[in-house]
Formats: sequence, C-alpha cells, structure tokens
Amino acid sequence: MNVLTAILLVVSFITFKFYQSTKVPKGLKNVPTLSFLDFLITIYINAGPDKRWEYARETLEKEGIAKAWFDGKWDLVVTDLELVKDILTKTDLYPKALLKESFPKSLLTQYYGVNLVFSNGDEWKRHRRIANPSFRNLPVHVFVESATKLLNIVEKIDNEPIEVKNLMHRLTLDVLGKAAFGFDFNNLEDPNNVYVTAYKEVMEEFRNPLYFVFSFLDNLPRSEATKKIAKLNKLYDEIVESKRKSMKMDELEKKINNNSADLLERMIYACKDPENPTLTNEELRHDLAIFMLAGHDTTANALTTILYLLAVHKDAQKKVRDELLRVLGDDLTPSAEQQKELKYMNMVINENLRLYPPVAQLPRRFSAQDIKFRNHVIPAKTPIILSIYGIHHSSRNWKDPEIFIPERFEDEKHDHYAWLGFGGGNRICLGINFSLIEQRIMLCALLRKYEISLPEDSIHKDKLQIEPDVSGTSGPHPVPLIFKRRTE
Ligand code: HEM
Repeated sequence: MNVLTAILLVVSFITFKFYQSTKVPKGLKNVPTLSFLDFLITIYINAGPDKRWEYARETLEKEGIAKAWFDGKWDLVVTDLELVKDILTKTDLYPKALLKESFPKSLLTQYYGVNLVFSNGDEWKRHRRIANPSFRNLPVHVFVESATKLLNIVEKIDNEPIEVKNLMHRLTLDVLGKAAFGFDFNNLEDPNNVYVTAYKEVMEEFRNPLYFVFSFLDNLPRSEATKKIAKLNKLYDEIVESKRKSMKMDELEKKINNNSADLLERMIYACKDPENPTLTNEELRHDLAIFMLAGHDTTANALTTILYLLAVHKDAQKKVRDELLRVLGDDLTPSAEQQKELKYMNMVINENLRLYPPVAQLPRRFSAQDIKFRNHVIPAKTPIILSIYGIHHSSRNWKDPEIFIPERFEDEKHDHYAWLGFGGGNRICLGINFSLIEQRIMLCALLRKYEISLPEDSIHKDKLQIEPDVSGTSGPHPVPLIFKRRTE
C-alpha cells in the first residue's frame, strides 16, 4: 500500500466516523435543533451563559427541549419544567454522566475522581450519608473570623474602587479551607501563598475550553498539569491521613460536641459507624476536592453578583441595610433566628441566584432507557443538559425575567422547579445553608459599614458582563466597586 492510499484510507475513516457521529438518532429527529454555527460563534466570542441563552432562546422556548451536537454526540438541552422535575426526582432513570466514563483519561478525573457530586446509585448514597450530618452544625465562627479580615481589607481602601470578584474568591477559599478541613489558605492576607497558587494553577488547567470541546485531546500527555494536580492531591492526602491517624475517636467526639470540628473531622467520625460502609482516604480526598469547587467558586460568584446588584439598585441596598440594622440592632452577626427575619435580604439573595446562577447548567445526566416526552421518544443513553440559566430567564416561567425584582419571591408564587439556584430533587445542593449563612454574614458586615456603588467608567455600567463557564461554575468578569464608609 503506498502512502497516498494510506492517507486516503485514514481520511475516509475519519470522515465516516465524523458522519456517523453527526447522524441524528431516530427519536431526536423531530426535536428542534440548536445551530452548530451559533455554537461555534459562542465559543469564538467566549460567550457566557447569558449570550448562549440569547442564541438558544427562540429554539428552546418552542418546546422546552432542543438537540445540540457537541463533542461527537447529540445532547438534549432541557428547560421544560415537567421534564426537569422528572430528571431531578427520578435519579435512577437519569443518572449523572460520570467523569471517569465521559473523560476517562482527563485531568478532571485524576483530580476529582468519584465523589459526592460525580457518583450515582449506592456509591452516591454512601458519600451523601457520611457527609449529610456534617453539614448540620456549621462552623459559624469561621464565617465571622473571615468577615472581620474582609472588613480590615476594605477599610484600607476607603472610597476607591476595589475589585470584588478576586476579593470574594479569596474570602470564600479561606472559609472553605477552614470549614472543610481546618486548613488556613490565608488567601485574604497573602494572595500569593504556595497552596493558593497551586489551586489556581490547577483550576486554570481545567478552564482550557479546548479540552471540553475536543475531549479526545485528553489522551495527549500534559505532564506540567499532572505535576500541579499531584501537588494539590498531596496536600489533601496529608491532611486526610494526619487527621485519621492522629485523632482519637473520643477527641473527635469532644470537638463535634463543642462544635469546633471541621467537615472532614465530622466525616471521619461518621465513617466509624460499623453499619455504614466507610469512605477510603482516596474517596475523602475526592470529596474535599469537589467541596473546594462546589463550595468556593459558587459562593464567591454569588457574593460578587449580589454586591454588583446592590451597587446598581441603590433603593434595594437601602432596604437591605435598613432591615439588617432594625433586626440586628447592635449585634454584629445575625443569629439563626435573626437570619430568618432578614426577609428582604433573603429575597435579594434568591433573585440574585435567579439572575446569575453560579451553576448555569447542571452536570450532564443521561437517559437510562427510552423516555417518552410528548410526541418524542428520547432514546436511551442520550446525554441531557438541564439549563438552569434558561429556566431562570424563560418568560414561560417568570414575568420580566431580565429585570431585578426581589419582591417576586414575596409569596413564592413561582413553579417549584422554575427556581433551581441550588439544583433540586434528590441531588439538591448539600451546602445550601453553608452558602446562605456565609452570604448573609458577609452582607451584614459590609452593608452595616459601607455604601456600595459602581464606578462611573465600569464595563458593567449597562449590563453585567459574564465570563464563559467552562469549569462548571459561572460568574462575571472582574467587578470593581466603591465602598464608601457610612457616617450615620
Ligand atoms: C451559591 C452557592 C452554591 C450554589 C449556587 C450551588 C449549586 C449547586 C447545584 C446547582 C447543585 C446540584 C448539582 C446537580 O444536581 O448535579 C449542587 C450540588 C452540591 N453542592 Fe452546591 N452550591 C453552592 C454552594 C455549595 C457549598 C458551600 C457546598 C459545600 C461546602 C456545596 C456542596 C455541594 C455538594 C456536595 C453537592 C452535591 C450534592 C449531591 O449530589 O448529593 N455547594 N450545588
């Protein structure tokens, strides 16, 4: 066989494989299609979920479902609330696509492995059963300590723009490190410390969109990236091992009883129960890695966008402040009871998560069997993407969806599945209270002391500019805001 024939054969094989992958499965033929050209444009312009929704809105609003060709497969994108409810409540019928199956050789799999977020069935139940009780008593003192450090930083830059996104990421990383495994990243005071740099470098590797769009590239070696991941994994391993070895169960019990135990210590303690199968050190490490992503980037982005909204909507800022001063009086930190009384603040938090959901689309699920939906039969094994951004911005679910109206949550008239800030059904976020308490404490601390405004020359003046969400969480481009000390 000469070289030309060999090249022709290879090209024909690739063309055939490509043609095969673009062929629409029978059951999806009549489902509206999202344009592949639009998809390429959104990649080219580095679009965030808002721009992607602009392109997809018309097609998706027709039936609440659409098909999209991505990475050699046809995905089903869903915003229809009936189907959303089915997907979120029947987790056996719609299991999650696991990292180790979707991207077997990827760095993502090396780092996150199988964990609470990326697992199914009995394996997921085992992780969730061990982690659940740990989230019941939260280390509020950690939130308060970090709020104090945050105020010290803001105080030094009175009345000048401060870039809030970076600040909020530093804050929530510190909170998560301490609350999850008793480790002080000290990122608020030392933005360039060695562990923070290692964490950031690993996250940067995951943000490379090339590997998302063309997952076969994961088969190529990435030795530098692998080294960075190994460094971070070593830190987690050392923490898990040293806690497991050095902690006696009665010591742990004491820490839990006086509420000074971190999440990892609580999980190690929960593992001692002979009736519950234990998590291995590696499984605990993977859970820590996913807590870092699920619990740090998400809340940081939520805090950034809520501060932006309050800076832009001065009337809402005043209402939140008036309410917290009335409810808290001289108390600096809201108690659990007081947090319930912060009704307007809680509505603003909900509206912020509706407008700018930090998880804009849920991790892929797939249909375990053929699914009948209206006049379609969705074939088994179809990858499914549930678009939270689309659901939150659909005029089928919300009046004036693009407008900031916290009062819409006053008597919760919306469909239960139309607000999915923390997901829904059995796999609903485990860190809801963690995040809500953290957000309320930070807002109380900042708003009591400062008037917040958007600088005149802000890139966000007309509209918040949102970044592409390739690593699973979505947030804005950097947001400088002015904090002016209040005099009253
Ligand atoms: C504003 C902040 C947060 C948002 C918007 C958020 C959002 C979500 C969403 C949408 C899901 C569902 C994922 C799915 O169904 O596939 C989820 C799950 C999860 N979240 Fe959060 N989250 C936040 C904060 C946190 C925090 C602070 C933690 C932990 C410290 C956390 C831990 C988890 C875990 C472990 C799961 C998986 C639950 C399971 O599958 O059983 N999250 N989160």
